[in-house]
Amino acid sequence: MIIALNNKCNLNKEEYLDYMNRLNEINTTHHLILCPSTLHLGITHLKEASLGSQNVSCFDNGAYTGEVSTDQLKSYGVEYSIIGHSERRQYQRETNEEIHEKLKQLLKNNIIPILCIGESLEERKNNQVFSILKEELEVALKDLTPLEQEKVIIAYEPIWSIGTGIIPSIEEIEEVFQFIKNMVPNSKVLYGGSAHEENIDSLKQCLLIDGYLLGGLSLKIDKLEIFLKKVN
Ligand code: PGA
Repeated sequence: MIIALNNKCNLNKEEYLDYMNRLNEINTTHHLILCPSTLHLGITHLKEASLGSQNVSCFDNGAYTGEVSTDQLKSYGVEYSIIGHSERRQYQRETNEEIHEKLKQLLKNNIIPILCIGESLEERKNNQVFSILKEELEVALKDLTPLEQEKVIIAYEPIWSIGTGIIPSIEEIEEVFQFIKNMVPNSKVLYGGSAHEENIDSLKQCLLIDGYLLGGLSLKIDKLEIFLKKVN
């Protein structure tokens, strides 16, 4: 299973170094992808895990103050990049079009995108789940060949589930995963949103899940270890 660890904007330098050492001691057969704060990429040394970023610029190197390019990320060993996280869509007002630009830039430079999609609670209540997901996928993946599409890891993260402790029912997850897999055949699809060591037994009943994107749990090494042991 793919287990992507999204540290978000957490851990100062000292805390991160300690965290990284503890992460390196974990023994697991799962494919861990650590996505720390951009600031910590340069001090990261991983034994088994792969390195990912939490964002990327859609431009090459140049006069783009505050941006981080694919060239820079690659020079630090970054192989994956989260894009379209709901927190960036919400706080940085990222649009599907911008996410599409970032996705193209990543693929062009051989970094694997982890594309986050998901509906808000209001959208779910209004029966808009599938129209929202369809639009997010269609715009982000437009003009890509089927082979390029397959490279993209998709993370389904219902916004109402992120950081809330609430997860969708297995039927709801299955319905969405089937929908995504029909739209983007052969791509890996992760579940994200309050996945932790206490609900993994329930989540893993959904056999369509190819892995997880963990936020809060990524920071709690003891609980993460329990989670990794319980995942199939
Ligand atoms: P959470 O976050 O696991 O803390 O809910 C997941 C995410 O936002 O990627």
